[in-house]
Amino acid sequence: MKTVLIAYSSKTGTAAECVRMLERELKSLRVTVADLDRGAPELRGCDAVVFGSSVRFGKLRPAAARFLAERGGELAALPHGLFLCCGFGHEFEAYSQRLFPQDLRDSAFAVLSFGGRLRLEKASWPEKLLLNRVRASILRNDADGAEWTPALPDILPENISRMADALRSAL
Ligand SMILES: Cc1cc2nc3c(=O)[nH]c(=O)nc-3n(C[C@H](O)[C@H](O)[C@H](O)COP(=O)(O)O)c2cc1C
Repeated sequence: MKTVLIAYSSKTGTAAECVRMLERELKSLRVTVADLDRGAPELRGCDAVVFGSSVRFGKLRPAAARFLAERGGELAALPHGLFLCCGFGHEFEAYSQRLFPQDLRDSAFAVLSFGGRLRLEKASWPEKLLLNRVRASILRNDADGAEWTPALPDILPENISRMADALRSAL
């Protein structure tokens, strides 16, 4: 049975939830899930790796950035998929180009947005205040257009399935 590592960092639980959804889609494989905030996992012996992080203030989470800096070479040598969880979905392309090295993106079997949320149970009060403002501005802009129903971002299950499909094809 092939061994897959999913290494991620999540501040308020969205990326962690996405990882659980991905894990459920990979039942036929031996999957290890590593929360990078609890330490860097061993890559030796893995047949493939999925690596991802949520985006805050335009950056990867610190543990994810550290992992990339220290273990990016090892990651690049294995079949790998990359994902981001970001509340501003329209920024995904720009984030992925800026936050993942080009060689890692070019050699990945998939580089995908898993979506993101702007309503976060686990956010601190200052964060909730900020998120309320962002949500209000999205809803206000959409209402101004009056042509579409205001939509707040959420997890994208179809992209999690796409990652699972791409991973299976890469093995
Ligand atoms: C303080 C804060 C800053 C954020 N900054 C960004 C950002 O720069 N770009 C973006 O697309 N989303 C941003 N978001 C939205 C997060 O990406 C989104 O809430 C995501 O679901 C968080 O994932 P996590 O719960 O796994 O950390 C921010 C959210 C918070 C609370």
